[in-house]
Amino acid sequence: MKNKIMVVGCGNVGMAYVYALLNQKNKVDEIALVDLDRERIEGEVMDLNHALVLSEHSTSVKVGSYADAKDAKICCITASRIAQVKTTSRMDELAENKSLFQEIVGNVMNHGFQGIFLIASNPVDIMAGITQAIAKVDPSRVIGTGTALDTARLQYILSKNLKVDPQSIDAYVLGEHGPNAFVLWSGAHLGTVSLNSLYDQEAKKTIERMVIQAGYDIVRRKKATYYGVAMTLVAITNAILEDKKQMMIVSNYDEQNEVYIGSPVILGKTGIEKRLPFALTDLEKTAYLKAVTAIHQGTKNDSIHVSTTYETIE
Ligand SMILES: NC(=O)c1ccc[n+]([C@@H]2O[C@H](COP(=O)([O-])OP(=O)(O)OC[C@H]3O[C@@H](n4cnc5c(N)ncnc54)[C@H](O)[C@@H]3O)[C@@H](O)[C@H]2O)c1
Repeated sequence: MKNKIMVVGCGNVGMAYVYALLNQKNKVDEIALVDLDRERIEGEVMDLNHALVLSEHSTSVKVGSYADAKDAKICCITASRIAQVKTTSRMDELAENKSLFQEIVGNVMNHGFQGIFLIASNPVDIMAGITQAIAKVDPSRVIGTGTALDTARLQYILSKNLKVDPQSIDAYVLGEHGPNAFVLWSGAHLGTVSLNSLYDQEAKKTIERMVIQAGYDIVRRKKATYYGVAMTLVAITNAILEDKKQMMIVSNYDEQNEVYIGSPVILGKTGIEKRLPFALTDLEKTAYLKAVTAIHQGTKNDSIHVSTTYETIE
């Protein structure tokens, strides 16, 4: 079976994802683009196919339709009805994106989709829950980008502060992709050095605020953010298509608290293959539960119910 991806919603985020995929080593054979604005997508496909002449990839890019769901391995949804710059909070998109997802996820499932949903549309944790509730697939087949991008932002900030390569930093952001994201300071390390003891309380708060604020800081300047989330989507895509068994922080289903939320998982060809356990200090436990409540609130308001079981490593 070929490695086919369909992307629904080909605006800033969707197209940045596709372009980033085509500029990296990947195992993607075919990309089908689906958007309300068909004419713009035709233009995108022409442009990308011309670009591909100058690349080593043999990936084919085409104007797609929901019929492409039948044999797609990944359906990435980045659709939205409200421009990022018109929102003051990711929650502002909830009502519109909920009805949008009824249409999109319903159409995808009606065309026999058997693959993995990869969700970027905001509020992303709630939209992942909504996707699962509509599609009624195993929650391991629904992945939200969650706090993966916040984690990259944290690693960047810490790397600048510590003057080291960001990939040498093991520090993660958990919780909601939004105001209730929090840094897992108790598990933050640079090699053998605990970052929890390196920074005082005030410095930790400042760094956490910078991470949470980063998205808004970018939108204020350039009206939207897309490169960071695009690379996050590429990393998740590659982990799935290459069956990498890679640890990433993404939005996944917390069965105990009944919400999709950012926490560490192992990603492979079946999607979320394992949830990793994580120890929390009392402060971090409070932050996690605050995030659960915030996501739950949105989810409960929309009477969404996710249910099934996960394999976990203790
Ligand atoms: N998860 C993250 O970390 C993260 C980061 C940045 C942005 N986002 C979110 O990504 C989403 C997209 O942002 P954007 O800047 O690309 O928006 P955009 O407005 O540029 O693109 C949205 C696209 O969705 C399309 N669309 C609307 N209704 C559709 C439908 N019924 N079927 C198919 N396509 C439809 C629009 O035509 C448009 O092309 C937003 O929800 C935004 O908040 C998430």
